[in-house]
Amino acid sequence: MTDHILIERQGAVQIIRMNRPDKKNALTRAMYAKMSAALVEGDADPAVRVHVFLGVPGAFSAGNDLADFLVVATGGEGGNEVWDFLMALAKAEKPMVSGVDGIAVGIGTTLNLHCDLTFATPRTLFRTPFVDLGLVPEAGSSLLAPQILGRQGAFALLGLGEGFSAERAKSAGLIYEVVAGDALEGAVLAAADEIAAKPPQALKIARDLMRGSREDLIARIKVESEHFHERLKSDEARAALTAFMTRKKAS
Ligand code: COA
Repeated sequence: MTDHILIERQGAVQIIRMNRPDKKNALTRAMYAKMSAALVEGDADPAVRVHVFLGVPGAFSAGNDLADFLVVATGGEGGNEVWDFLMALAKAEKPMVSGVDGIAVGIGTTLNLHCDLTFATPRTLFRTPFVDLGLVPEAGSSLLAPQILGRQGAFALLGLGEGFSAERAKSAGLIYEVVAGDALEGAVLAAADEIAAKPPQALKIARDLMRGSREDLIARIKVESEHFHERLKSDEARAALTAFMTRKKAS
């Protein structure tokens, strides 16, 4: 299980790699827990100056494991792992860079709203089908997406669940750069090295100023989470999740 998230240090760069290729990097509770611990420990370690998120070829992440959602939808216990990860993202003290190739669904998209630089490849597709699943936006995306994309772009992403290609994401301001697939990790690590070489205290103050109020972000994540947990138990969500989990068995 633990190797579904690989943590690596390259100089002052901490790499958090999602590594569950057979499930397109759908995130389980254990995976969230390991990513949270890495962010918290990396923030506390002066040897780390930047966090990097990577996936596997073709899959950054297919989002939360829908089997875990279905557990909650059918009356089971969901745990605190997702909440802890969202808090670790919102409270992260050091810059975060992501490299996205291929599928980026749900938290696979909204995680990037917390990153300071995101690189993606031409085959990347960002998508957040929360409403289609009977759910609501999470991870502070209902606050961050309108800031980044404007109200109408945010509605297209979060309300309509439209896919955003890498090019569309770049022109909408969702990501920093589109690079070829075989150049992705090099570009991400070069940017991370550049960040790591900056005076850390000045960079921290500059970053905090640009990001605005963490309290507002955390408050929004809390409100979203309350709705999300209510919605998970709704008939709409239960039907959508069951349809996904049984779609292959039926065919
Ligand atoms: N949770 C659990 N399992 C998932 C998953 C998820 N979010 N996303 C993909 N998987 C699993 C599939 O069930 C499949 O497992 P199997 O081989 O045991 O049947 C495997 O990963 C590969 O997925 P598959 O659907 O065959 O790949 P694809 O390339 O055709 O499609 C997606 C990829 C991501 C478009 C599609 O799997 C999908 O829509 N997943 C759900 C995404 C989602 O709604 N996430 C939650 C957002 S809130």
